[in-house]
Amino acid sequence: MKIKLGDFVLLLSPDEKTFLLRIREKRVFGTHLGGINLEDAVGKKYGEVIYSSSGKPFILLEPTLEDRVMKVRRFTQIIYPKDAAIIIFKTGLRDGMRVIECGAGSGALTIALANAVAPTGRVYAYDRDEKFLKNAKKNVEEAGLSELVEFKLREVSEGFDEEDVDVVILDLPSPWEGIPAASRAIRGGGRIASISPTYNQVERTVESLEENGFVLIETVEVLLRHIRVSTGKTRPFDRMIGHTGFLTFGRKKVTI
Ligand SMILES: C[S@@+](CC[C@H](N)C(=O)[O-])C[C@H]1O[C@@H](n2cnc3c(N)ncnc32)[C@H](O)[C@@H]1O
Repeated sequence: MKIKLGDFVLLLSPDEKTFLLRIREKRVFGTHLGGINLEDAVGKKYGEVIYSSSGKPFILLEPTLEDRVMKVRRFTQIIYPKDAAIIIFKTGLRDGMRVIECGAGSGALTIALANAVAPTGRVYAYDRDEKFLKNAKKNVEEAGLSELVEFKLREVSEGFDEEDVDVVILDLPSPWEGIPAASRAIRGGGRIASISPTYNQVERTVESLEENGFVLIETVEVLLRHIRVSTGKTRPFDRMIGHTGFLTFGRKKVTI
């Protein structure tokens, strides 16, 4: 597959810096190792090399979902791939499903959700902050997924417009304010996921899930360690992201 105008590339510099860029006409991208004429990528394949104005080789790589999520323009904390991955697994999101997300924040999780439900599903991304919502929308557009996402400016306690959705995801400081509305919006057997950084938030969330007809409630934390590999001295890196959030999951029971 040859790279064409409008495609995205992950440009890898000789000193292992990465840049997520869209190939546009006459665009020169400035780097610490000289300017890159992005049109030079047109007609090349992923894995091939283009050169900066100072003759340094940059490899054209195909962006992954992780690259897209990690490179969003951030106005808020984002959900990291390690957490997004288990959210998608445990909620069972797949092609054709409808999912409500609140708050959309910077749209990082929105991108992962839209990717999971593509090409026929739908993400309803709510947030109460207009500036954040605008940025999230732009990030989702740049990931080429805007056809799958509807953005809504709304305070969570005011509820959601949708009914019978498959999944609701809450990533906001007081998820319990959205749980009654989530319970009304989710179909029987549908799933909920909530992300919170502190134990007291988790306790309150679980109490509210129990009160609002959710079962199989569980809370997990995902710790990811990177390993420095070097023959004879392979070991974990000294530093890691020690904490992002606790993830709470539940399933909707139908009450008659
Ligand atoms: C941590 S950010 C979400 C990050 C997002 N999941 C991502 O991956 O980019 C939390 C968001 O919740 C929104 N928020 C907080 N309280 C809210 C409420 N009561 N109703 C609606 N949105 C709310 C904030 O405006 C903020 O954008």
